[in-house]
Amino acid sequence: MRHLIRNRSSILNRQPVLTVKDLTIAFETEEGLVEITDKVSFEILPGEIFGLVGESGCGKTITALSILRLLPQPGTKITSGSIFLKDRNILSLSYEQMRSVRGKEIGMIFQEPAAALNPLLPVKKQLMELFDYHKFPDDKEKRVAELLHRVGFPDPQRILASYPHELSGGMLQRVMIAIALMLSPSLIIADEPTTALDVTVQAQIMELLIEMQREIDTSILFITHNLSLIAQYANRLAVMYAGRIVEENDLDSFINNPLHPYSRGLIEALPDLNSENPQLKSIPGQVPQPKDYSFGCRFRERCNKAFELCTDKPELMSTGDTQKVACFLYKKEL
Ligand SMILES: Nc1ncnc2c1ncn2[C@@H]1O[C@H](COP(=O)(O)OP(=O)(O)OP(=O)(O)O)[C@@H](O)[C@H]1O
Ligand SMILES: [Mg+2]
Repeated sequence: MRHLIRNRSSILNRQPVLTVKDLTIAFETEEGLVEITDKVSFEILPGEIFGLVGESGCGKTITALSILRLLPQPGTKITSGSIFLKDRNILSLSYEQMRSVRGKEIGMIFQEPAAALNPLLPVKKQLMELFDYHKFPDDKEKRVAELLHRVGFPDPQRILASYPHELSGGMLQRVMIAIALMLSPSLIIADEPTTALDVTVQAQIMELLIEMQREIDTSILFITHNLSLIAQYANRLAVMYAGRIVEENDLDSFINNPLHPYSRGLIEALPDLNSENPQLKSIPGQVPQPKDYSFGCRFRERCNKAFELCTDKPELMSTGDTQKVACFLYKKEL
C-alpha cells in the first residue's frame, strides 16, 4: 500500500524540520583528507517520509551519523556545510545539548537493533534510563508498557524483563521503534531499519513504523538501498551516487520519469513482477570508493549517455517545482 501525504500543499509551505546544506564529510588518511560526501544538500518537511537511496558505500549512513553528530571517531569529520534542525544549528551545539537532541528531538532506528542496545541490561532498565535522562515527567512505567503494547507486544512486562539476546530481530526492532517514538521526536532517522529482517517481518515493521509516524506526526529520513521500499513508503527522495546527491524528486515523478541516468538504471533494475519472465537488469560497472573519486561526473564511466561535458562536475539544478538533477543532459543551452 502506498502512503501518500495527506495535505501536500500545507506540507510544502511549512518550515523544514531538517535542512542539510552543502555537507562535506571526510576521513583522514596518511595521504591527507579523503572526502566521503561532496556538498550534500536536502530538506525534510514536516510529516513527510524522505527517502535517501543509493548503492552500498555511497555515503548514506555517514550522512545520517553526521546529523546525529555520531561520526566514527577519531578520523571522520565534517569539513564544510551546515545542518539545521528547524532553526537550530546542530553543528554548533555542545556535547550535552546534542545528547538531549538525540532521542528527544531526533529518534533513531538502525539496521542492527542488537548493536544499539546494551546486551548486559534488561530492556526495562534501558528504556527507563532514557526517560530519566530526558526527565520525562509522567508515569514512566505506564508509558513504556503502553508503547510496547502499541508496537505489538501483548505482554509488555515479559519484554521489559528480557535481555536483548532473548528477543528475535523483529522483536528487537519493535523495541527500537518504541524507543525512537517514546519522546515524540520531530524527526526519526531510520537507516536500513528492516534490512536484517526476513521479508514478512520487514513488511510488518515498515507498516508499524508508518502507522506510528502518522500517530505522532513526525518526519522520517528513510535510508535504504531498496528502491521497492522507497516506492512503497517515501513521499520524496534523494538519490546518492558516490558521495553526491544526483537527483531529488517526488515519488510519482521519480517512478514515472526518473531524471538522472543512474536513477533510470536503478528503476530498470527493479524486477517487473507483472512480466511473464521477470528479470533483473543491473547497471554495469562498480561504484567507486571515496579514494578513487575522480573529477567530473562520477557516474560517467557507467553511463550510456555520457558525452564530452561529463568530465566537468555537474551541479544539482532545478528542472521543475520539486525536481533537481545533477546531469549535463539537462543543461538548457544544450
Ligand atoms: N572512518 C572511515 N574510514 C574510511 N572510510 C570510511 C570511513 N567511514 C566511512 N567510510 C567509507 O565511506 C563510504 C560511505 O560509507 P557509508 O557507510 O555511509 O555508505 P552507505 O551508503 O551507508 O552504504 P551501505 O548501503 O552499505 O550501508 C564507504 O565507501 C566507506 O567505506
Ligand atoms: Mg549504510
